[in-house]
Order: sequence, then structure tokens, then C-alpha cells
Amino acid sequence: MSRLIAALYRLLYDGLLCRLPEPTAIAFGQSALRMLPLDRLPVFRLEDPRLAITLGGVRLENPLILAAMYYDPRILRRTMGLGFGAVTAKSITLGPRPGHPEPNLVRTRTASGPGLVNCNGFQNPGVEAFRASLRGFDHRVPLIVSVAGETVEDYVTLVRELGPLGELVEFNISSPNTKLVYEWSARPHELRILLERVRAATAKPLIVKLSPDFAEVNEREIIPAALDAGVGIVNYGNTRRIEEPRLSQGSGGLSGPEIFGATLANVRRTREKFGAALEIIGTGGVDTPAKAQALLRAGANAVGYFTGFITRGPILARRILEELVASA
Ligand SMILES: Cc1cc2nc3c(=O)[nH]c(=O)nc-3n(C[C@H](O)[C@H](O)[C@H](O)COP(=O)(O)O)c2cc1C
Repeated sequence: MSRLIAALYRLLYDGLLCRLPEPTAIAFGQSALRMLPLDRLPVFRLEDPRLAITLGGVRLENPLILAAMYYDPRILRRTMGLGFGAVTAKSITLGPRPGHPEPNLVRTRTASGPGLVNCNGFQNPGVEAFRASLRGFDHRVPLIVSVAGETVEDYVTLVRELGPLGELVEFNISSPNTKLVYEWSARPHELRILLERVRAATAKPLIVKLSPDFAEVNEREIIPAALDAGVGIVNYGNTRRIEEPRLSQGSGGLSGPEIFGATLANVRRTREKFGAALEIIGTGGVDTPAKAQALLRAGANAVGYFTGFITRGPILARRILEELVASA
């Protein structure tokens, strides 16, 4: 059954979604997620005790994580019933941000499959409105809240305000679309202070989300500093910065299968270098069960994806979980 749904979704994506202008496709997809009660259909999930893991001491029913992109609680709630072991909310900033003007998302298609390039620019409602929107939110699976700031104080405030809303807290130092967070990777000394201050601001397990553009600095400075500060989980990682003249900013973050090779190499190297001291979420380019398997075999504790959710549809989680159970 899941194979059939996956094949039908490919037809829908290639035949319709891919042909609509990007903003229309996004509006269509998000409306469908809000309106269609897909999370009530058991076919989109697979429960098996062999799939359970812990991440930062938090139990996840399985190792799949929806990567940061959505902040609407109706969508977050829906995706929590679509097979993921945890769901990440979009990175939230102190104040609301309109994001970059359109075009801020374009599609790519290479031999490796369909991908995206975005310069979203942290379009989000800001901490107050986001917090209010999550009042009474029912955590069907663990929620990972994500924060993005400019200064150490921004992060500390955000982590204090949003930490209580999630089971885990991710802090984003890696989105390439604004100067807001990307620059942190180029300032490892200040980053060490940031890691320590953020660690002191919450008792929740912390995840630092890394950029694949800074592999050397990540592994030489940032991960050791994170471990010293008591931040034991890395998400490796975010999109890769590329020039893209179709976008309003002339550049953006590439996601999807083109970045998978780097994700796999980064996860493998990081596991070899840091051993069991570190928990790793492998994110970037997963759009098939085989890619999720490969990341777990290379040493990832969990696997995140976003673009695959769009290009392969909500059935992808179930397809991956079936393969994981088959090889358990
Ligand atoms: C439109 C869009 C918005 C995103 N917003 C965020 C964000 O707010 N915070 C973040 O950490 N990552 C964000 N990401 C990055 C994804 O969470 C993920 O790390 C990246 O897309 C690589 O994974 P993928 O190839 O599976 O999509 C965004 C990605 C896209 C395509």
C-alpha cells in the first residue's frame, strides 16, 4: 500500500506540484496539510518497539525527524502523526520577520533528483506570537524548538522563552540566507561563549545545527567547544550556500539529494572523530529509505529531512521505517 501511495505522490509532484509557480505550490501544499486529516490514517506511520531511540535522553519512537521549516501549530501537529519520531519547528527569532521578498524558493532538478534552493530569510512570527500559538499544544511526539539569533543575548532569551515548549532545543548557527546566523561559524571564539551561555539557559537537551559549508571549522572548533560546554547533540546539517540568480537575494541554501553525499561524508567523519561522546542527527538530502539507512550505518543516531517530505511526500517516513524494520 505504501509503495502505491509513494508512486501516486510522485505522479502528483511531477505532474502538478512541480509545474505550479513555487508560491502557489507552497500555498497548495500547506493548505492540504492543514485541511487533510492524513495523520489519522495509520498507513502514514509504523509503530515497532525496535525502532525506538533516545536523543539527549528523550525517547523517540523512531529515528526520523522532520527538519525545521514549519511554525504553524496546525501543520506541526499534523506532521506529528505522519511517522516522524520527532518534529522540529522553524527557527524563531526574537521579533517577527517578514523574510526575504519573492522569489525566495526555487526548484532544482539534477540527475540525483528534485531539490530546492531557498532564501527564506527566517520568515517567522517572532517569539511572543509563536509562544502564544503553541498554548495548549499537544505533543504527540517530541517537539524540537529551534532558535536563531544575532547576539549571545538573543539566543539566551530565545532559549529561555522557548525551551519550556519543546522536549529538545536546537540552535541554528547555520542557515545561509541572512547574516543573522551564518556568521557564527566564522567566529568560533565567540561561538564558544554562545555555547556556554545557551547551555546555562536551559536544562533541556541542546542540539547545535551545523553548516556543511564549514566542515573543517565544525570539526576542529565548534564540535569540541559544544562538547566542552555540555551540548552533546549536533545536527549535521543545514543547507549548502550557493549562488542562484533566480532568487531575490542572488544566492540561497541548496537542499535535497545534491547535498546527500556531503551529509554522508560529514556524518561518517564526525562519528569517527568524536566517537560515542556525541549524538548526531544526519540531515541533508534524504529522499529514499536507502539514504536514511546509509546515514544510520555511518553513525547517525537519527535522520532528519525536509525536502524529501515535499518531493517524495508524507509517505516517505513510512517507506523508510518499513525498510528499517525489515533490516532490524
Ligand atoms: C524553505 C526552507 C526553510 C528552511 N528553514 C529552516 C529554518 O528555519 N531553520 C533551520 O535550521 N533550517 C531550515 N531549513 C533547512 C532544513 O531544515 C534542512 O536542514 C535542509 O533543508 C537540508 O535537509 P533536506 O535536504 O532534507 O531538506 C529550511 C529549508 C528550506 C528548504
